[in-house]
Amino acid sequence: MKMRLKKQVIDILKILQEKNEQIIASELAEELDIDYIVLMSAINELIDNSLGYFEEKEIFQVSLTEEGLKYLKNGLPERQLITILEQDEIKEIDLQDFLEKSTLEKSLFYIGIANLKKNRWIAQSKASGENKVFIIAEEFPKTDLEVFIEKFRAHPNLNVEGLSTQELEQVDILNKRKLINKTQKTQRIIYLTEKGKKIDVNQIKELEQVSKITSEMLTSDAWKKAELKPFDVSKPGPLLKAGKIHPIINLINEIREVFLSMGFTEIRGPIVESAFFNFDALFQPQDHPARELQDTFYLNNPKEAKLPEKKLITAVKNTHENGGDSGSIGWRYNWEEKVAKQTVLRTHTTATTIRRLAQYYYENGKKPIKVFSVDRVFRNERVDKSHLAEFTQIEGIVIDDNVNLCDLIGLLSEFYQKLGFSKIVTRPGFFPYTEPSMEVSVYYDKLGEWLEMGGSGIFRPEVTYPFGIKEPTRVLAWGQGLERIAMLYYNRNDIRDFYVNPIKWLRHQSYLK
Ligand code: PHE
Repeated sequence: MKMRLKKQVIDILKILQEKNEQIIASELAEELDIDYIVLMSAINELIDNSLGYFEEKEIFQVSLTEEGLKYLKNGLPERQLITILEQDEIKEIDLQDFLEKSTLEKSLFYIGIANLKKNRWIAQSKASGENKVFIIAEEFPKTDLEVFIEKFRAHPNLNVEGLSTQELEQVDILNKRKLINKTQKTQRIIYLTEKGKKIDVNQIKELEQVSKITSEMLTSDAWKKAELKPFDVSKPGPLLKAGKIHPIINLINEIREVFLSMGFTEIRGPIVESAFFNFDALFQPQDHPARELQDTFYLNNPKEAKLPEKKLITAVKNTHENGGDSGSIGWRYNWEEKVAKQTVLRTHTTATTIRRLAQYYYENGKKPIKVFSVDRVFRNERVDKSHLAEFTQIEGIVIDDNVNLCDLIGLLSEFYQKLGFSKIVTRPGFFPYTEPSMEVSVYYDKLGEWLEMGGSGIFRPEVTYPFGIKEPTRVLAWGQGLERIAMLYYNRNDIRDFYVNPIKWLRHQSYLK
């Protein structure tokens, strides 16, 4: 059977056969004055008939900046300056007079002078006491740079690959003078197969297919006779670059859903926190190494935080000094209010959940409380593949009578299961504010590995008693970094990717969650 192709496809095939060189899809579309999508759909038909194929290639291009374009129009500053001297046949001139005569902006004038000297067209001398400029050349032919810039007139975007070594030197100069932009993009290069090169286009029959039914076709009934082109939904379409929700926000929302589905309510707290809620209320002694500057960002402005009412401060002070009424003997040192007033960028969201505990003291309706927080925390860490100085923590607490470690493990299992991890394992751990404390690891099917996720525990009496939360009421708590989960979810091995925003990756994220 004779091959049948649409007229436009046959035309494009003819052009491809005539051209022997490498053909760039976007340039061909421009040359033929057809839509890029139309061209690619024609190429797809060539591919279906084994007549052609295309390859994708990363290309680097340069174009002139706004300033560069101005020079393309009016000449480089050095050309503008030399033209002034030429026109008035000036052989020497006082630098200051030259500046005024030139009407160029001062900075541009000096750039022009520097380049005139580089071109060896002028010399500058202060020998006579005046700062003078002398012409030292006979002629002022177009420089390599000027010749090169001209290229942009016909091609606003030049492919770096096609440039000679000499031209690349000019690119370098333009780059140093901040006159060009460099861009990178993916290009499709079209080729014909052997069959495509040899086929006699006259032997191909024209196929009259329509891909769109117009209103004329409908009114004239022509649509009834038309042969409709079937859609091939497996063919790649053009990449849409519409706005979408950032993967981290998507994940945060998913985690919110998980907490909400478990009956938790979201709470938020201040980013600028007092040492009191970040450390003291969590029974971390005032000389605890975690408070030291290497971990915590202390603030100068505001320098001091407002503390809660005196009664709570005294209760926390007593607990640190002698255990207060918590049954503990405390840390046995002199607790200072001054230290608790220091302001910090909160280092964990436990500062926020402990604020909720303090509130419980006021609204002591003895109702169970389940709250969570997903929020930003800050630590003075060196940023690398697996550490950020600013990251997100997720954290949940439950306040109720007689809740115990089994309840906590049950909550953790449900929570991680809802996030997609079928199995968890807990191990004894340590946090200054929980006892017992557990480290939580989850089993990650994709890797077939156990991964450490976060911390958990029951708040110590030293933490809850000052806020009036006493046996048999207890507080279960757990928390972990969000970006660790994000790395697994999105299969990224550099944690920084979530904040430096690699545009290619973001463009390939789905629009819907
Ligand atoms: N605050 C701990 C952290 O920053 C996590 C944690 C929360 C541990 C609650 C125990 C209880 O790692």
